[in-house]
Amino acid sequence: MCAYMTRNDSCLAPPVANPKQGLKILRALLRERSLLTPLRLMQEMVGDVFQITLPAFQPAVLIGAQANRLLLVQEREKFSWRVETDPVTKLLRRGLLVTDGAEHDALRALMEPALQRGQSETYSARIWHITNQLTRDWRDGQVRDMLLEMRRLALVILMGCLFRVEFANEMERLWQPILHVLEYISPGMWIFLPHLPRPSYRNSIRALDAYLYRILRERRAELERDESARAQTDLLTRLCLTDLSDDVIRDQLLTMLIAGHDTSTALLAWTLYLLGAHPEWMARARDECNAVLDDLSHPPRPEQLNRLVLLDSLLKEALRLCPPIHIGNRRATEKVCVLDYEIPQEARVMYSIYLAHRDPKYWRDANEFCPERFREGTGVPPFTYVPFGGGPRNCIGAAFSQIEAKVVLARLLQEFDLELLNAQQIKPHMGATLEPRPAVKMRVTRRTRL
Ligand code: HEM
Repeated sequence: MCAYMTRNDSCLAPPVANPKQGLKILRALLRERSLLTPLRLMQEMVGDVFQITLPAFQPAVLIGAQANRLLLVQEREKFSWRVETDPVTKLLRRGLLVTDGAEHDALRALMEPALQRGQSETYSARIWHITNQLTRDWRDGQVRDMLLEMRRLALVILMGCLFRVEFANEMERLWQPILHVLEYISPGMWIFLPHLPRPSYRNSIRALDAYLYRILRERRAELERDESARAQTDLLTRLCLTDLSDDVIRDQLLTMLIAGHDTSTALLAWTLYLLGAHPEWMARARDECNAVLDDLSHPPRPEQLNRLVLLDSLLKEALRLCPPIHIGNRRATEKVCVLDYEIPQEARVMYSIYLAHRDPKYWRDANEFCPERFREGTGVPPFTYVPFGGGPRNCIGAAFSQIEAKVVLARLLQEFDLELLNAQQIKPHMGATLEPRPAVKMRVTRRTRL
């Protein structure tokens, strides 16, 4: 039994696997190098609340709607998002994602306006142009890895929309640094061992920082030079108009760059995989796009995006089955009793989005791809579906990423026939997000216009 597991009168320590179960779970962990199967096995064998007892990694894991509500809303004051020793905290320093309390709330209030739905017309047009630009050289019959293509798109879109900078030219130079940084924050062997960054990581962070400080300097210079630039509504401009220091702005830019593009990459790649594996749904989605977005020479308007209801349910189902962020991570700031289990102060606590989304108590045919379940009017019980988290610290980029996914997918479906070539190989990989690996290979053919 782990050192911190104590009992009081009313609360029990979270249960753990017995040695036989533990061995089976450990084998799955070593085989798959991912927590997904071990977590599912723990839930099956131990229940919806349990504790992992690896040598240097002993979080309590909570699964289900009630747990989500407690962690995200009711008891959230008793947990902090910042875990000082985690690589993501070392990388993002004072970034929104890893701050708490008043510091977090002030940053969030500054940044929220740049990401609200009110901006959707501007963003939709930019996303549409960037998608056209980056797919222009796709040739008939080529096989493209959509995981890679979607990362390229997501990066240029994020930088173009939120920072108002042209990123396509920087891509080649910063591609590896971005991948190294993602690898650094992915839950890997640091779960068991002290986390020593590789030299490649140090060089990568240097390259990324140099770039971020440069665009920050350039934007400050533009604002000095040109009074009218102050009216721009992108996030970088807004941050420059606050009294935040350059270092704190760097932390927010890096947070948005990492949190904002890697998640969208995963959502787009998973949705293309699911559409490729279910061609009948691909055809229906394309028909809907063609009916609603009849003027192919013009970016979609917000009310047209709202009418893409089938595409909307496809995206929701992709987020349910393959949530890019599949687990939430906290630290208990005080001793707390949740769901009758005692969590000691300082303990790491996790909520599993992936397992909540596949809970047969709430989802019929939970492991099946069934976008119909999200048809208009068929609501889901609160806190059973949390792809963007929930409560006051839900995902700040949720609205933006949904506009992005709709515009990109509509564009691809209208412009190309897409044939999935490696469905059998694709498995969820737990990197910084849950990704379809090794690749989503699709043959692309430009559709002929009548
Ligand atoms: C499909 C796309 C996305 C998914 C599935 C997603 C998912 C999530 C989830 C689950 C959380 C809460 C995590 C927790 O409770 O521990 C979160 C928070 C956050 N997300 Fe996203 N996200 C997406 C896109 C984005 C984008 C586009 C941005 C930025 C432009 C972004 C920035 C953030 C930030 C900064 C937070 C922390 C918010 C806070 O603590 O106040 N995300 N996201």
